[in-house]
Amino acid sequence: MRAMRQLAYGAPLVLEHVPEPVPGPGEVVVTVTRAAVNPLDVWISRGSVAAAGPLPRTGGGEGAGVTADGRRVAFRGAGLGVTRDGAYAERVAVPAAALADIPDGVSDAQAAGVGIAGVTALDVVELSGITPGSTVLVLGASGGVGSYALQLARARGARTIAQTSDASRVASLTQHADRVVVSVGDDLEEAVNHAGEQAVDVVLDGLGGAFGGPAVRLLRAGGVMVVYGASAGPSFTVTATEFYRKMARVVGYGGLGSNPAELSAKSATLLAEIASGRVAPRIAAELPLVAVNDAHLRIVERRAGGKLLLVP
Ligand SMILES: NC(=O)c1ccc[n+]([C@@H]2O[C@H](COP(=O)([O-])OP(=O)(O)OC[C@H]3O[C@@H](n4cnc5c(N)ncnc54)[C@H](OP(=O)(O)O)[C@@H]3O)[C@@H](O)[C@H]2O)c1
Repeated sequence: MRAMRQLAYGAPLVLEHVPEPVPGPGEVVVTVTRAAVNPLDVWISRGSVAAAGPLPRTGGGEGAGVTADGRRVAFRGAGLGVTRDGAYAERVAVPAAALADIPDGVSDAQAAGVGIAGVTALDVVELSGITPGSTVLVLGASGGVGSYALQLARARGARTIAQTSDASRVASLTQHADRVVVSVGDDLEEAVNHAGEQAVDVVLDGLGGAFGGPAVRLLRAGGVMVVYGASAGPSFTVTATEFYRKMARVVGYGGLGSNPAELSAKSATLLAEIASGRVAPRIAAELPLVAVNDAHLRIVERRAGGKLLLVP
């Protein structure tokens, strides 16, 4: 079967013809119909994820497909694409505990990205303690996680402010946000204030870098910022007074440690939200499997504008 393989870190993935996957105890083989591409795949491909196992290895941490007995499933976790062969292939062996059934009315394309982006959004929204009426600033709102987070926050009754650095994305974000701001980081407070908001209750931050300090300053007394990524840079600075006087909380989230059964239960929650129409995945493009390196580049160059999917 065909698979996109990492032969060396820092090098493009390569199309190879490899033997069919052999399921271990408690595992099933899934015929992949869509593999979802995530920034994590890019970091793994560069060799910058400490937990990544030996090479060569098929990439891809999640996807959707069908089992031999006809179950339509989404899958994520259990080391797929990190410590074992992943989803960038025609077929993949997956622990049965990592499968979530795709409900009727939800397409494989809609389901393929729920495991990482969707579950992360679900978790950070929960962690932030959003309540009806909360004002929530979602950074990187056009992205895989941000686009889900924006919709989940709104579904919980929040007033939502979506940030993008790309003015061409404003119109598409408006349907899920009360306000959309264009900001490249340092100008975040000005952009939010200009949109008529002086402060927010919650920030969901997958960007860090130049966004982190201004985002903390935008929190109102008792506000919460959940930091789950660092797409715009690995560090940011806040002064002690900016932080403690308003009793702000800055909380980190890293989802890599969750076990497969927990992840698949959360994926099922997300899939039910999609089936109900309350949440819609933001799918930017569906590309052939061999275009994975182009997909990685689109993420790095911020040209994705939503979830990228591969069709084996
Ligand atoms: N903690 C966890 O468990 C976990 C799980 C999943 C993801 N993550 C991390 O969360 C972050 C977001 O993931 P994702 O899947 O949503 O990524 P994504 O689909 O690439 O979206 C990120 C969005 O942020 C904006 N962006 C990206 N790089 C930027 C930069 N340098 N400066 C300013 N804006 C930038 C882009 O929006 P515009 O172009 O519209 O501005 C992009 O659409 C990544 O860093 C990822 O590694 C963490």
